[in-house]
Amino acid sequence: MQVIRTIKNMQTLSKALRSEKKTIGFVPTMGALHEGHLSLVRRSKNENDATVVSIFINPTQFGPKEDFKQYPKDEKGDLNKLSGLNVDAVFIPEADEMYHDGFNTTINIGHIGEILCGASRHGHFNGVATVVEKLFNIVMPDKTYFGQKDFQQTVVIKKLVKDLNFNIDIIVCPTVRETDWLAMSSRNSYLNNEERKAATILYKALKQGEALLGRGADDVSDVRRGMKALIKSEPLAEIEYIEVVEPRTLQGIEKIKKPVVICLAVKIGKTRLIDNLVVE
Ligand code: PAJ
Repeated sequence: MQVIRTIKNMQTLSKALRSEKKTIGFVPTMGALHEGHLSLVRRSKNENDATVVSIFINPTQFGPKEDFKQYPKDEKGDLNKLSGLNVDAVFIPEADEMYHDGFNTTINIGHIGEILCGASRHGHFNGVATVVEKLFNIVMPDKTYFGQKDFQQTVVIKKLVKDLNFNIDIIVCPTVRETDWLAMSSRNSYLNNEERKAATILYKALKQGEALLGRGADDVSDVRRGMKALIKSEPLAEIEYIEVVEPRTLQGIEKIKKPVVICLAVKIGKTRLIDNLVVE
């Protein structure tokens, strides 16, 4: 497994692979890898001749009061996991390699980046879109793999690819969960024991929402009310948002017309967690 730290070396490898007519699968990550990330890597290994994983904690997608400084890092552990999966190359640039002095061009993804998580995380999705566009130009993949866990991010990336004519397939992979159904996330490591137990309320609320829809609730406010009441029964939980949206546009709906996605963001103590469920 090659560990590559410069843009030039990464582009050289990708050009070589492409000239050999090898397909490149790409999994962008911020590291602290868990089974959720590894499921994307395995899928890429199955579907491509070569797989590249990037590890880069992208400063431009964190707000000034967010957890950029404390974001978990485990380069050695990550590299071990990836070499165990026979990944071809890991791209791990430093921040000044990705953002040279005088860097000034950014992507503005528009309205879709300002709703749901974007309403509280201003500029977050522009930061994501900018770094992902850069990574696409560096890695030059045929297919890239994203997790449904970050549903809004997948919609943002699909829009970026469409609007800017990238010839790249976006593959969305299912959310990998712990045995108690908490969605795996690098940020789960912030939770203490009590908070970790409380965090199971997110998935319980999503299932409650799904059950209400299954029982024929056709008004979103009924679904939201039921989910809200359940989450409020957990004293450590504070709701940021609960929304029922149309999957392609993320537009909020009032009257249910399936498929829909139930999306939520909830703070457990100081840790902000997100999850979602697609209801067909
Ligand atoms: P990160 O949070 O490290 O996630 C990398 C990829 O792993 C994303 O596509 C995310 O949706 C996926 N993922 C995370 N948890 C998952 C789970 N439990 N099941 C399935 N997939 C999961 O998302 C980012 O990094 C960054 O925003 C990035 C795209 C790398 C741009 O900086």
